[in-house]
Amino acid sequence: MKTTAVSCSNIAFIKYWGNRDNLRRVPLNDSLSMNLDHATTTTTVAFDAKLENDRVIIGGAELENAAPAAARVIAQLDRVRALAKIETKARVASKNNFPTGAGIASSASGFAALTFAAARAAGLELSELELSVLARQGSGSAARSIPPGFVELLTSWESNRSHARSVAPPEHWDLRDVIAIVSAAEKMVGSTEGHHAAQTSPFLPERLNALPPRFHRVRRAILAKDLPALGSAIEEEAIELHSIAMTSRPPIFYWAPGMVRVIQAALKWRAEGLAVYFTLDAGPNVHLICEAKDVEQVEKLTRTISDVKDVLVNAPGGAAKLGTTHLF
Ligand code: PMV
Repeated sequence: MKTTAVSCSNIAFIKYWGNRDNLRRVPLNDSLSMNLDHATTTTTVAFDAKLENDRVIIGGAELENAAPAAARVIAQLDRVRALAKIETKARVASKNNFPTGAGIASSASGFAALTFAAARAAGLELSELELSVLARQGSGSAARSIPPGFVELLTSWESNRSHARSVAPPEHWDLRDVIAIVSAAEKMVGSTEGHHAAQTSPFLPERLNALPPRFHRVRRAILAKDLPALGSAIEEEAIELHSIAMTSRPPIFYWAPGMVRVIQAALKWRAEGLAVYFTLDAGPNVHLICEAKDVEQVEKLTRTISDVKDVLVNAPGGAAKLGTTHLF
């Protein structure tokens, strides 16, 4: 049956970077994120016995099945087909409401929506845990876009246990993510390559030691709604993600001049009394985290920076859900 799912992207406060099992995308470390209510992907899937091949349409354009983006979608359809014990080919159409590949995790919302829609369309009734495990194999961060609000992805030595679950619902804390878009271009090195490269950084063992206490600082700060505690931990974490990327061999530079200027501005605003903290993804854009009461000021100030091409404001988002408006 034709099925549509809608899912939010998320911003990681503790980043998933590196796998213990590359094939199944079992992360090296636990991660924790906030779903983004205004950065969503809508995906429609229909299995159709008349199709000879899968057909993948992203943002209105049909992809060649050999193209890397289509191959990744088809590999995820294959996982769903294996679970449902079917061989039927599918038609998939997907649309983001935000720029793709700009450091807003389009693979998170994309693979969460694809997994949910494809599983339902194939007749599978999966639990949230099972859906998150399946989504994770398409894109690690996608696991965290299945449950609502603030979400942790707990790794395990077993792929089927490495799942995401909600730490707190979206209404728990009225946080905002003010995304300063410095560049909306596709990133040069995708995260799949980044996860592999992480293993070549001499600082990775240090990071893996430092992560468990930092993860708990973030988790506690969210539960206590303590922004300064959250802020100091997420800034450390963001800088560390980029340090691992830059010290990978060969190095990966997501770091960019405009990004540094936004960070410096945010530090200055904070010194002047505004409670705003930054985090980064594997891209040049800066995510400015503040409470709802300060969002207008943070957005206004961010728009005055000449490197900033656009600003997107997100509140905590809900779980992946079924939609009623099909894309075909
Ligand atoms: O899900 P992937 O493979 O795109 O990896 C996500 C990597 C980061 O966005 C940098 C961190 C994270 O946990 O979302």
